[in-house]
Amino acid sequence: MKIIRSPQAMTAWSENLRRQGVTIGFVPTMGALHDGHRELIRAARLRCDALVVSIFVNPTQFGPQEDLAKYPRPISRDRALCRKEGVDVCFEPTAEAMYPNGFQTMVTLPTIARRWEGEIRPHHFSGVATVVTKLCGIVRPQVALFGQKDFQQSVLVRQLVKDLNLSIEVVVHPTVREADGLAMSSRNVYLSQEDRKRAVTLYKSLRAGAEVIRRGVTDGKAVQSAMAYVLKKEPAMTIDYLAVCDPSTLEPLCDVTSRVVLLGAVRIGSVRLIDNLLVALPRRSFK
Ligand code: PAF
Repeated sequence: MKIIRSPQAMTAWSENLRRQGVTIGFVPTMGALHDGHRELIRAARLRCDALVVSIFVNPTQFGPQEDLAKYPRPISRDRALCRKEGVDVCFEPTAEAMYPNGFQTMVTLPTIARRWEGEIRPHHFSGVATVVTKLCGIVRPQVALFGQKDFQQSVLVRQLVKDLNLSIEVVVHPTVREADGLAMSSRNVYLSQEDRKRAVTLYKSLRAGAEVIRRGVTDGKAVQSAMAYVLKKEPAMTIDYLAVCDPSTLEPLCDVTSRVVLLGAVRIGSVRLIDNLLVALPRRSFK
């Protein structure tokens, strides 16, 4: 496996392979790789000839009070996982190479970024959109894979790829969960033993929302209350938001009459967790 740090060298590597008709797959990450990333890498492997994983803790997507400095960076372990999974290139640019002096272009998607994560983390999505655009411009993949766990991010990436005519197929891979249902995340390592046990309540609350929808409840507020009811039984957790939304626009649904995504974000101590569940409505028969 090659480790490339310079954006120019990365583009040269990809361009050379593209000229030979090779399909390049890309999994962008911030490192601290876990089994969720491993699944993304494996899914990418099935869709491409050559595979690039980027490891870059992107400063522009962290707010001033967030965990940029203490974000986990186990680089040797990350490289070992990539090597084992048959990754061809680990692209590890420096912040200076990505954002040199004089850098000024930011990519913003005001509508998608307005709600939910965007409301709580105001500059987060323009940081994500900017770095994803830059990384795709450097790596030049035909296919890029993202995890469903960051649902709003995946909607944003699809939109920016479409708006900017990036000629990349975006694949969103289902969330990978621990045995008890907790969505895998690089931030789970911050949880104390006690909080780790409590953390699964977020998933349980999404499941409770899905269950009432399956039983025929269509009122968005009632679905949201069913989710909140579960979380309120766990006083150590505070709710940032629980939402019942249209999966393509992320607008809240008053009336759940088509496919729906349930979004949730909570805090336990200083750790923030997000999760989501896509729910299909009870089967209707069409004549
Ligand atoms: O999902 C992530 O890990 C990051 O937001 C991404 C897409 C790698 C951009 O920094």
